[in-house]
Amino acid sequence: MCQLNRAASPPPPPPPPPSIAAAAPRRSKPASPAPMKRPARPLFSILLLALLAVALTCRTALLRRGGGVSGGGGVGGGGVVGGPFELEGAAQSVMRGAPLPDLNSSMLRYAEIDASEEWLKKETEQLLEGDLASSGRFRTYGTWRRFNHHDPKARNSRGMPATLRSPMFYRYWLDFRRNLRDWARSKRFQPDVMDDLVRLVKHPLDRHAGLPASDRRYASCAVVGNSGILLQSGHGELIDSHEAVIRLNNARIENFGRDVGSKTTISFVNSNILHFCARREGCFCHPYGPSVPMAMYICQPAHFLDYIMCNASHKAPLIVTDPRFDVLCARIVKSYSLRRFVAETGRPLEAWDAAHDAANFHYSSGMQAVMLAAGICDRVSLFGFGKSAAAKHHYYTNQKSELGLHHYEAEYDLYRDLAQQPRAIPFVSAKFRFPPVAIYR
Ligand SMILES: *[C@@H]1O[C@H](CO)[C@@H](O)[C@H](O)[C@H]1NC(C)=O
Ligand SMILES: *[C@@H]1O[C@H](CO)[C@@H](O)[C@H](O)[C@H]1NC(C)=O
Repeated sequence: MCQLNRAASPPPPPPPPPSIAAAAPRRSKPASPAPMKRPARPLFSILLLALLAVALTCRTALLRRGGGVSGGGGVGGGGVVGGPFELEGAAQSVMRGAPLPDLNSSMLRYAEIDASEEWLKKETEQLLEGDLASSGRFRTYGTWRRFNHHDPKARNSRGMPATLRSPMFYRYWLDFRRNLRDWARSKRFQPDVMDDLVRLVKHPLDRHAGLPASDRRYASCAVVGNSGILLQSGHGELIDSHEAVIRLNNARIENFGRDVGSKTTISFVNSNILHFCARREGCFCHPYGPSVPMAMYICQPAHFLDYIMCNASHKAPLIVTDPRFDVLCARIVKSYSLRRFVAETGRPLEAWDAAHDAANFHYSSGMQAVMLAAGICDRVSLFGFGKSAAAKHHYYTNQKSELGLHHYEAEYDLYRDLAQQPRAIPFVSAKFRFPPVAIYR
């Protein structure tokens, strides 16, 4: 979803609600049949099984996907699907007969190439060169003009809309430049960044909660993906029982409580979501309440405008992920994508660029949220990651297909390694201690 609006020079289309914007399909398929209903199970048995499974074997839960497998089976149909004995079979069905090749040095080197680097650099330079009044920077100007209409503070302070030349906007402009420059400068590969996530993300959240910033990780975290497999899962209570719950891209939770829970500790979004929020009065972006902190990664440098503006009106922390973390995530996902590409097509690595639209290729919000959880939690549970033929793409929309610029299958391979053999994950510093990860279906 990071490519949205990037090439736009005409005025942007009217803002769709964020959930739809985030889900804008590239290719659409005919309407899907209603998701297959699974028999309701008593909640206590789900909890019991889940607790047992987590306690006995924190690392062995496994995602089952593909091949139209939906529910049923598993460990008595309980919360965690895939005990240690099921891994082999499930892994086979995932691979569709083609074994994933080991990561070799050519793949690793290829995964280091960031095909979006060039346009990012160019766009950053243009934004930094541009000045506030320059009408040549249409998109920049348009964004600022929007802020004129949407920042209640700007209006209230003068009783009328602030102008682009007001001291207030000049200050925002300077902040924007400073933040963008710092971000661009520190955008580099650093395998150690995983060890820095507690300081970068959890400390601000601790302070917001009125606690002394501590290096303690969250005892347990639930990362709630938005897959339709959550429907009828009954996981809500289990999700809320984690110390921290991370939700993605402002997915709706009202009326879904039984399956997705209601607690939110971190709202994780990509900057396209915030970009749409920035058009609203007071930059309203809080489906989980205005006191829930947000973390987001930057899709486009211009989104720092939205960040600066929204940061000023948000009461809870609005944290931009460290660009070194972005680089790490990009390399990891590309390496998994390359492996799957080679296994499924047998084509040379170089053919990946065209097949996956290299300049627009991006990890999903879910992937980065999972890696964030791995960095700030002692135990991680994943919910709502994965697909089945019967499930909707998102539990809260009727969208059936997915965005082409993410390689979900490759990301599922990553999650499986996180749960089973995290040391196999490339690019992460060898001294980083991965927490146990369980994948729920
Ligand atoms: C690594 O694997 C790719 C894909 O299978 C292959 O094309 C390449 O030659 C291999 N490189 C090395 C150094 O083995
Ligand atoms: C964002 O807001 C917080 C809290 O008001 C503030 O401490 C921080 O400096 C702001 N960040 C930027 C880049 O303005």
